[in-house]
Amino acid sequence: MTYSLGVIGGDGIGPEVTQEALKAVEASGVDVATTFFDLGASRYLRTGDVLPESDLDSIRKLDAVLLGAIGPAIGSTDVPSGILERGLLLKLRFELDLYINHRPFRSPSPESGYVGKAVDMVVVRENTEGSYAGEGGILRRGTPHEVATQGSVNTRFGVERTIRYAFDLARSRKARHLTLVHKTNVLTFSGDLWQRTFDSVAEEYPDVETAYNHVDAACIYLVEAPERYDVIVTDNLFGDILTDLCGAISGGIGLAASGNLNPERTGPSLFEPVHGAAHDIVGTGRANPTAAILSAALMLNFLGEREAASRIEAALQPAPPVGLSTQDIGDWVAERIRHGNN
Ligand code: IPM
Ligand code: MN
Repeated sequence: MTYSLGVIGGDGIGPEVTQEALKAVEASGVDVATTFFDLGASRYLRTGDVLPESDLDSIRKLDAVLLGAIGPAIGSTDVPSGILERGLLLKLRFELDLYINHRPFRSPSPESGYVGKAVDMVVVRENTEGSYAGEGGILRRGTPHEVATQGSVNTRFGVERTIRYAFDLARSRKARHLTLVHKTNVLTFSGDLWQRTFDSVAEEYPDVETAYNHVDAACIYLVEAPERYDVIVTDNLFGDILTDLCGAISGGIGLAASGNLNPERTGPSLFEPVHGAAHDIVGTGRANPTAAILSAALMLNFLGEREAASRIEAALQPAPPVGLSTQDIGDWVAERIRHGNN
C-alpha cells in the first residue's frame, strides 16, 4: 500500500521540521508518495495566492496531509495578520471538515513535566466552529463610532460530534475519564448547549467517568495537578489556548503534536505540530522537530499503520540528547526507528 501524502512545509521553521518528520516516515518503512505544495507566506508574497482552488482540489484527493507551520513573523507588515491563518490553515480545516483537533500530551518522563508532575492526557478541541467560524464584522471602521463583533458559532451537530469523539476516545483509554472545559457561568448560551449535549451523550457512556471545569480553573489545575486530566473536550478557542499551556507543562511546545481529523474519512486528515512558525530561529538548527515527527506518528496511526507509528513514538523515548541540531535530531530518530533504541 502506498499512501498519497501532501506536504505543506509552510512558513518559518515549518519546512525544516517537516523534512525531519518525512525522514521518520521513510525510516518506518511505510510507503508514501509525496506531493509538495508551495503554500504560505512566500507564495502569497510572490503571487498573491493563499489557497487556490486547484491546490485545494488536489489536496482533497490525498490520503493525508503533513503541515509544518503557517504564519508570517509577528509584526511583519508584508502579510497582514489573519490572511494565511484564515485563508489557508482554517480554510483547510473547514473545507476538509476536520472537525476534531486531537492533541495528545505526554511528558517524556515524570521529571520533565512541570514541577515534576507527569502529564498524560489528550485535548479534544472542536475545530470548525466557535469564534473561529468567522461570524461578525466591523461597522464604521476607523471612526470614533466603530463597532466590532466576533460571534461564536455553536451548533448542536458540531458540538455533539466532537463530544462523541471525546467519549469514544476516553473509553479506549485506561483512565476512562472525560472533562468538559468551558465557561458556562458566563457564556450562558453556548455553555448551556455544550453542557446539555455533554450530559445527554454521557448517558450512553456509563463506563466513562466525567467532570466539568471552568476554563480559568482548568488553567490552575493543569499547572498544579495535571493528573486530574485524562481527556479534555472543549471548544475551538479554549482548546487553542489550553493546548499551548498543555505543551508547556508536558515538556515544552516543541514536543506537542496534533491531528486535524475527519473521523468519517470523507477526505484527508491533516497533521501538524501545535507550535507556530518561530521565524526568530529559522536556519539556526535550533528548531525541535519532535512535534512534527510525533505528528507524523499520529498520521500513520490514523492511517492504520499502528506498528510503524509505535516505532516512531518509541524512538523518541527517551528524548534525544540535548544540544543536537534539527537535522541531527531527525537523523538520530530515524536511526532508532530503523535499528531499535540502543
Ligand atoms: C494552532 C494555531 C492556529 C490556531 C493558528 C495558526 C491559526 O495557533 O493550531 O493552535 O489558532 O488554531
Ligand atoms: Mn494555537
